[in-house]
Amino acid sequence: MSKRVYILNGPNLNLLGRRQPEIYGYDTLDDVANFCGEVAKTVGIETDLRQSNWEGQIVDWIHEARDAAAGIIINPGALTHTSVAILDALNAFDGPVLEVHISNVHKRESFRHHSYVSLRADGVMAGFGVQGYSLAVLRMGELLKD
Ligand code: DQA
Repeated sequence: MSKRVYILNGPNLNLLGRRQPEIYGYDTLDDVANFCGEVAKTVGIETDLRQSNWEGQIVDWIHEARDAAAGIIINPGALTHTSVAILDALNAFDGPVLEVHISNVHKRESFRHHSYVSLRADGVMAGFGVQGYSLAVLRMGELLKD
């Protein structure tokens, strides 16, 4: 049976494809879910992509992942730069964690340069556009290989 990986997305990412396309591109989160699902098959995992604008919902999904997922790929959106609660939840998860940012946060405003999630993440993708999600899926396949 293939291992399940949660791909969790934070605030405003529901607007992907329509929100600041000059920064985030024209692909939607449904497109991301579809191509990640295809890439996941090639590395023997299955992905479950979710999005919420609510910090507590993301914390709850990370708790759920403790029993339901082998790994987590997370783009926490703006919560990256503010949320100790998401960091604490990820610290209570045992599997690999990969952090994804569509834009290169280090090329942007200084408040985007710090990530609480990076204190826990096993790897970080930033500035690869939505392709960063596929690359994270490939890497997750490698990390979860038996
Ligand atoms: C983001 C970068 C964050 O700084 C921003 O708040 C987002 C998206 C990205 O994917 O590039 O919402 O995480």
